[in-house]
Amino acid sequence: MNRPAVEPHIFVVLGGTGDLMRRKLLPALFRLCQRGQIPPGSVILGVSRKPLQDSEYRQWTREALKAAGFTTENLESWCDHCVYYHALGHGEPQDYQHLKERIQQLEREHHLPGNRVFYLALPPQAFPSAIEGLGKTGLHHSKGWTRLVIEKPFGRDLSSARALNRKVHQYFHESQVYRIDHYLGKETVQNLLVFRFSNAIFESLWNRNHIECVQITVAETVGVGSRGHYYDEAGALRDMVQNHLTQLLTLIAMEPPVTAQADDVRNEKVKVLHAIDPPGPEDAVFGQYEGYREEPDIPPDSRTETFVALRLRINNWRWQGVPFYLRTGKRLARKITQIAIRFRHPPVCLFPHLGERCDLHSNILYLNLQPDEGFELCVDVKKPGEPFQLQTESFHFRYAEAFGPLPDAYETLLLDVLQGDPTLFVRSDEVELSWQLYDNLLKHPPPLHVYSPSSWGPKEADILTAKDQETWLTQ
Ligand code: BG6
Repeated sequence: MNRPAVEPHIFVVLGGTGDLMRRKLLPALFRLCQRGQIPPGSVILGVSRKPLQDSEYRQWTREALKAAGFTTENLESWCDHCVYYHALGHGEPQDYQHLKERIQQLEREHHLPGNRVFYLALPPQAFPSAIEGLGKTGLHHSKGWTRLVIEKPFGRDLSSARALNRKVHQYFHESQVYRIDHYLGKETVQNLLVFRFSNAIFESLWNRNHIECVQITVAETVGVGSRGHYYDEAGALRDMVQNHLTQLLTLIAMEPPVTAQADDVRNEKVKVLHAIDPPGPEDAVFGQYEGYREEPDIPPDSRTETFVALRLRINNWRWQGVPFYLRTGKRLARKITQIAIRFRHPPVCLFPHLGERCDLHSNILYLNLQPDEGFELCVDVKKPGEPFQLQTESFHFRYAEAFGPLPDAYETLLLDVLQGDPTLFVRSDEVELSWQLYDNLLKHPPPLHVYSPSSWGPKEADILTAKDQETWLTQ
């Protein structure tokens, strides 16, 4: 696909001295510039409340890039020529007026045509006032294009997501809005579309006639670390399930879109969300890892879930009767993001001495999103010699072997914003529907079970799959 070249622009980051800017946005922007994907003359304007000078901010960006492993000679001059800083003050109306004047001044100095990105790398409670500040000052449009990028979490339930959408749409047209879910920027996640719709061999099997169950696991070994304050308010359902896991689910389950254009793809994802039965507490298991309450900024009586397992049903022609299991948690046994698709057993078992269901391990497709990006298709083979035995072997493909290291998700997503391609961003109706799906569970959570760190979560998660005579395939 031919992509439009990025036009000269100003990239304004509200929350410009934050962790996201330091760890993700700056390295991604620097790499895009190094590769010539951002045209010369474009500038970055970091904005926050801190009273810093350009020179001090540039020093901070240099250190951030060095800490991210960059050592190139042009790092110093890039920071000096492309990076600026503006202290916003307390975000009063006149502060946004000053921001507007600073942007206009930089555009004059750099002969920029008025193309602007506003990236809200802010705590979620600051989104509404920032949107209001930009909108009331008229920064929602310009001589060129203006795009608004909003980080997750987009709301904390259905009503707050709706309110935030209303606030956004008060000033910005939906086509200007890019709601980030960094999972959609991962190469392996984008590859789900290619895998499904370029390989007819799989697509013809992708339905209730051939698939017995689908499992999505996003397991992390880390705990909440220094993010306790945010995390305890959120919990795993809001932090991971409503966004990342649900996005993976829609990509796996959606119908083929008419084209690969943004709205065709997003329309199909929305249809999947419409077809899912909102899970009740009986379809969910919540867990909390032992020791969570001793983590920094976590109340000693916290009931926040750090683990969620769900059993979902998609009530449509393609998926009726196929259970979809979702599972995510912190402090689990292994870091892995994997989708496992178990195909149906043969209708007749020619090798009954091997067990009632012939074999439990064969005919599974594993899509490994991280680490060891790639896929694996497990099939049974006969082990040579006597006695007659089957063994599971796999066909596999590994990204690293074929292509080397993959780009960071933020590089992909920032480039998409700059090229004006919203395919990998979440549309307003999509974000509301995904909150709607979990609204009941947020209001009526299931009991919380404590689990041991480095395990696969509470044993109740196994009972969930056992309801369909299934077991978790990722271990
Ligand atoms: C973030 C969550 O969105 O995703 C974090 O807020 C989580 O809690 C992270 O650790 C996981 O992302 P990745 O790319 O490491 O799988």
